[in-house]
Amino acid sequence: MPQHATATTRLHAPSVAARATGLTKVYGEGETRVVALDAVTVEFGRGRFTAIMGPSGSGKSTLMHCMAGLDVFSGGSARIGDTELSGLKDRQLTRLRREKIGFVFQSFNLLPTLDALENITLPLDIAGRKPDQEWLELIVGTVGLAGRLRHRPSQLSGGQQQRVAVARALAGRPEIIFADEPTGNLDSRSGAEVLGFLRDSVRELGQTVVMVTHDPVAASYADRVVFLADGRVTDELLAPTPETVLDRMRLFDTKGRTS
Ligand SMILES: Nc1ncnc2c1ncn2[C@@H]1O[C@H](COP(=O)(O)OP(=O)(O)OP(=O)(O)O)[C@@H](O)[C@H]1O
Ligand SMILES: [Mg+2]
Repeated sequence: MPQHATATTRLHAPSVAARATGLTKVYGEGETRVVALDAVTVEFGRGRFTAIMGPSGSGKSTLMHCMAGLDVFSGGSARIGDTELSGLKDRQLTRLRREKIGFVFQSFNLLPTLDALENITLPLDIAGRKPDQEWLELIVGTVGLAGRLRHRPSQLSGGQQQRVAVARALAGRPEIIFADEPTGNLDSRSGAEVLGFLRDSVRELGQTVVMVTHDPVAASYADRVVFLADGRVTDELLAPTPETVLDRMRLFDTKGRTS
């Protein structure tokens, strides 16, 4: 926020759901030392849908894992809402993840013996939290699985299974959802269903989503794209379209080859 911002603009400025400041992650030492994150500073606005793109090995998953408290970082700071992650004990981190963070992975990670609805409410059940019925109905209404809620994962298509996984991430009304290539295992039609649901969860339900993707079309569902390369934020794009994302990716490609 610039210093000259008035009280009014500050009031209307979107708040930040998660923030990394100088976030650094080093794996290994000596010859195997890899700087996966090299002082990354980035903010994810509340109620926004952000895509993260970048070449393989650029640190996208590491950034998510460190910001979500799934992995410890080497330096800098990461916050979820007002909570600083560095210095939290394991038990506090587990609680933070449970209460404030939703995850969606490339592989759907549903429990095969539970039906769709049971999978959606499982994290709440484990945490001993009562689902907010109104919220749950809203999610179930948005996910577009009416008539399929009593089906097991094996009776659902890939896109339907991933929508169950997104609904599960939403069930606890988290501060933020991190999705790592959620459409990576899906054909384009099923992918579009999942992306539509993620977008609706932001636009209609006011949730905050950060999604890693390699696909310019998937990225175009987001409000903003953040580009990573070699563990650094190199660029960002607002109101992306598949074309503007592709153009930006080509630009990096050329830079990479000429430097
Ligand atoms: N557990 C680990 N031990 C050592 N190095 C690791 C580990 N995890 C990741 N790395 C390294 O850190 C760097 C960033 O990896 P990361 O998985 O974050 O990349 P990514 O952008 O998600 O790539 P992809 O698009 O292939 O998923 C890579 O060089 C990777 O080899
Ligand atoms: Mg990755």
